[in-house]
Amino acid sequence: MSAAIIDGKIIAQKVKDEVKVGVADLQASHHYAPGLATVLVGDNTASATYVRSKHRACQALGIRSISHELPADISQPKLETIVKELNDDPDVDGILVQLPLPGHIDEEKILSTIDLVKDVDGFHPVNIGRLAMKGRNPLFIPCTPAGCMRLLAETGVDLNGAEAVVLGRSNIVGLPVALLLQKANATVTIVHSRTRNMESHLRRADVIVAAVGIAELIKGDMIKPGATIIDVGINRQDDPSAKRGYRLVGDVDFNSCLPIAGAITPVPGGVGRMTIAMLMENTLKAARMKF
Ligand code: GUN
Repeated sequence: MSAAIIDGKIIAQKVKDEVKVGVADLQASHHYAPGLATVLVGDNTASATYVRSKHRACQALGIRSISHELPADISQPKLETIVKELNDDPDVDGILVQLPLPGHIDEEKILSTIDLVKDVDGFHPVNIGRLAMKGRNPLFIPCTPAGCMRLLAETGVDLNGAEAVVLGRSNIVGLPVALLLQKANATVTIVHSRTRNMESHLRRADVIVAAVGIAELIKGDMIKPGATIIDVGINRQDDPSAKRGYRLVGDVDFNSCLPIAGAITPVPGGVGRMTIAMLMENTLKAARMKF
């Protein structure tokens, strides 16, 4: 039997439709549209593309967006000043500093400068700390991990007591998604580059979240029949037959996992669109908190 394909496009659209209604309600009740400020440092092409998509999504949902594009050699104090000005700006509800930042910038210091109530990325150390602690809740949950959890919820996956394996331990995805799965009562294993025998962990997983950035690392013969697979990876693979000379593939070998898994996200069309949808949800939440 073939796995159910988890359609990230449809689920992201559902989230965005909900946000659009929420934005219209806020407009009707308080004559106010939420505002998101983005901060892009340097000329990383992928980051610029992501930020542009975030602005486009804002526009489609009635969220105001404010763009700051800064040179790669900006100083630490200058960048901190810009973030502080956004903290003080009453028209800004959410602040997103696109990562990665250039090497000379102290990322943690910048993320700690963001006002907690405007931390729509959920990367402020206090928000991450609350995510890690029992009985505490962050104001905002990082967008890609929140998107993964929403996909699991919409698919009806029971996480209570489930064996969950997260591949990757990045601050942006691996670590926070592992914390969220644990909060949802899964038994969580994080597999990373130093893990011995990755396959032995994968084989007993009811749920796999793959976020390592290695093209098609997970093959069908490594997974448990019926497992749910969330593939966060977006990797370029050379393909002379494709128009651009490459195609996008995930961390999961979709074709070999499809007949074995219970449910699986495709790449593209899976997690990708969820990140921006959850950012829109967080921005609406930030604006609502103001009233
Ligand atoms: N870089 C890659 N993903 C993200 C994200 O979700 N937020 C920010 N700020 N930067 C990123």
